[in-house]
Amino acid sequence: MNSSQELLDHLSRNSSPYQDPLTRIRWDALSSEDYWIPEEAISLFGTPEYSALSGEQKRRLSQYEFLYFISGALWLEGLFMERISRISMHSTGRLDRLNYRLHELREEAGHSLMFIEFMRRSGLELPERRFPKPKLATLVGRFAPFESSIFWIAVMIGEEVPDRMNRLIHQRRDQISPTVHDVVSTHMIDEARHMAHARDTLESYLDTLPTWQKAAYRPLMRRVFRQFVHAFYYPTADIYQLAGLPAGPNYRRLAHDNPRRAAFIDTCVDPALQVLRAQGLVLNWR
Ligand SMILES: [Fe+2]
Ligand SMILES: [Fe+2]
Repeated sequence: MNSSQELLDHLSRNSSPYQDPLTRIRWDALSSEDYWIPEEAISLFGTPEYSALSGEQKRRLSQYEFLYFISGALWLEGLFMERISRISMHSTGRLDRLNYRLHELREEAGHSLMFIEFMRRSGLELPERRFPKPKLATLVGRFAPFESSIFWIAVMIGEEVPDRMNRLIHQRRDQISPTVHDVVSTHMIDEARHMAHARDTLESYLDTLPTWQKAAYRPLMRRVFRQFVHAFYYPTADIYQLAGLPAGPNYRRLAHDNPRRAAFIDTCVDPALQVLRAQGLVLNWR
């Protein structure tokens, strides 16, 4: 048995016993009196406009930005589930692979159900268009061949980038809602396995990929990465509106121009960029 097969078996073993997130979360603890993400994770944090908000407005914004974040996660998990389901039909030859994929599929379905339940229990009005799907990332995610480095680069980015945000929220336990803390902890534990698998698969592809091909991928992957990061980390204008911020300022523009936000995003995307850089693929999000 080679190391990739051993990893698959190991990850599959660690996926059981399966616990349904819907029954694990302390739903009753969800309160609109709490921050749902820590202040430093709010897109406007650090701007004078943010400082001028009341405590209640800041909390409401943190709640809406969390809703926006899990809306993005729903889109992303939908893509993963679509691809895993499609490939599973053709995975019957290697039972260890099929076994792992079905664990991952079950876990992603559990996360999505958890996000929907969270949205329902939030009691907040959701934006009409919950999340602007980044077009190129959606295309690559849906149609790049499953057995290709392009696809696994996209998967690795899709798993790593939001996970950093989860980690940061998780570390600020004392500042946020216990329900949100449960949601992000549950997500992080499963995602650690998915990321180990994505990294391993990606490395096996990239190790054999000629340098000229990596260079050829770069412009496309750079655009995918940029679009993806922008979609996740810069909420749409209606989020600020629904959060009840004072009319007047263009909050989306303020977030884009906010150096604290840029620094925050750097921290979130750095691990993904490092993995790719180590493989000779240099990307950036700005
Ligand atoms: Fe997930
Ligand atoms: Fe995942």
